[in-house]
Amino acid sequence: MSSKHLRSSNWFARKGKDGFIYRAWMKNQGVPHDMFEGKPVIGICNTWSELTPCNGHLRELAEMVKKGVLEAGGFPVEFPVMSLGETLVKPTAMLYRNLVSMDVEESIRANPIDGVVLLCGCDKTTPSLVMGACSVNIPTLVISGGPMLKGHWKGKDIGTSDIWRFDAASKLGQMTEEEFIEAEACMARTQGHCAVMGTASTMAVMVEALGLSLPNNASIPAVDARRKVLSQLSGRRIVEMVKEEMHLSKILTREAFLNAIKVNAAIGGSTNFVIHLLAIAGRIGVDLTLADFDTYSRDIPLLANLQPSGTYYLEDLYYAGGLPAIIKEMGNVLHESSMTVNGKTIGENATSAQVHDRDIIGTLKTPFKEASGIIVLKGNLAPDGAVMKPSAATTALLKHQGKVVVFENIEDYHARIDDPALEIDATSIMVLKNVGPRGYPGMAEVGNMALPKKLLEQGITDMVRISDGRMSGTGFGTVVLHVSPEAALGGPLALVENGDTILLDVANRLLSLQVSDEVLAERKSKWKPTEKMATRGYVHLYQNHVEQAHLGADMDFLKGGSGSEVLRDSH
Ligand code: FES
Repeated sequence: MSSKHLRSSNWFARKGKDGFIYRAWMKNQGVPHDMFEGKPVIGICNTWSELTPCNGHLRELAEMVKKGVLEAGGFPVEFPVMSLGETLVKPTAMLYRNLVSMDVEESIRANPIDGVVLLCGCDKTTPSLVMGACSVNIPTLVISGGPMLKGHWKGKDIGTSDIWRFDAASKLGQMTEEEFIEAEACMARTQGHCAVMGTASTMAVMVEALGLSLPNNASIPAVDARRKVLSQLSGRRIVEMVKEEMHLSKILTREAFLNAIKVNAAIGGSTNFVIHLLAIAGRIGVDLTLADFDTYSRDIPLLANLQPSGTYYLEDLYYAGGLPAIIKEMGNVLHESSMTVNGKTIGENATSAQVHDRDIIGTLKTPFKEASGIIVLKGNLAPDGAVMKPSAATTALLKHQGKVVVFENIEDYHARIDDPALEIDATSIMVLKNVGPRGYPGMAEVGNMALPKKLLEQGITDMVRISDGRMSGTGFGTVVLHVSPEAALGGPLALVENGDTILLDVANRLLSLQVSDEVLAERKSKWKPTEKMATRGYVHLYQNHVEQAHLGADMDFLKGGSGSEVLRDSH
């Protein structure tokens, strides 16, 4: 490709004062002049941060990408963007997903970048980077940081999903403070993101299923030398992608999105997948709806025996054959001709894959579980939909009618959940309001509310829980999430009162508040918003523009893209 076709030539091939300025300040980093002579400039968009521990090793991977870019004749430039550490960011990392996407979009467009490698890992760092890149639509390749090795404690493998069990055990006095602290170090013992099929792993699978990464990106452990190799090969490949003008929109077709939905069902991915995939589709201009998640995952069984739906960890998946082996098992259930970043189709990439452990990867005929995918529920409680993950739920509760115990917000929940006087039993349905996109704000991961201590003491392990919030991908239970419209907008969820009855009927995709329309209208006439709206700053912007969960919770003005043209082309 001649340099006149490179975006970066608008900077680095310039004559006169402008070209002098563009090149001279790059040279203060020790860049020789021939790096500016028609070489594709590859941005390495890095979410490394010591405050995002899951991504703490991404500077090492960036060095490997640079090697590959140089080997292929490109010019690598690493740049930082805001990073979101799921465990530390308050009130919730999801509040800032859209902000990071703006940072990524504007950073790519504003700079002399011909192709970009996105380095991500912890939950929100993946969708935010992909969303931002979609709105620019230049050649893009994704590398995930990779999962941690599984933890070991007291002779057992442990991972993030055990945190919920440890919490319940410590509430019941079955685990001491010392054991708790010891388990922390035993669980998070290597670099990388959560080792179970939580949201980070789900996002890594998503990018591989969409065709945005090289094969096996999803499961090579963070500390495995082969992740460094994958990074170096990705660096080589992105240079070729620039020459082939393989823009994101050539890969992200509707078929690619449907593949991602089906693969997500086969691996038991997080419910957060729904929100992120909808937002990405909105950016690249692919027509995708909430209903598609139910329609296209309905007949896909759970092939992967991975926590939280099963037993094993991401490193086990890699040893068992990785995602290509699952894709091969799925065969023509997928759109096998969908193109991927390495120039081969998703079917071609899986041709030589093999399953090495049938306990970890099942077949379509003999799956690990029949129940999988994302269920989309509708009814008068969720006119625009709600979601649940049946593989992580209790089968007996998939049809359940119960009296409601309402928590008006998360503070109300914390204040009363362990009150011995709280009227609640195993048949009750817990409803949590005001944890949605606008109400929380940022749609917190609190939907899998811990059960009351007094019921845990009775040996109860699951109850139906309903909210307009999200659930950690590492969580489990019969949990209905993303109720839309949310309570803070005065959706029907806002009108639920203590003692009402709700019917959950998963087989019929029904979520019904058993209260007459007249009574609901009466309640609505008296309803007033209770959650605070920010008066300034990013949160003000977010609360005034965030869309509802069933649309992907992007901000209305960010949908679509603006291409890679800069607004003005001179200093
Ligand atoms: Fe970062 Fe789980 S906390 S991936």
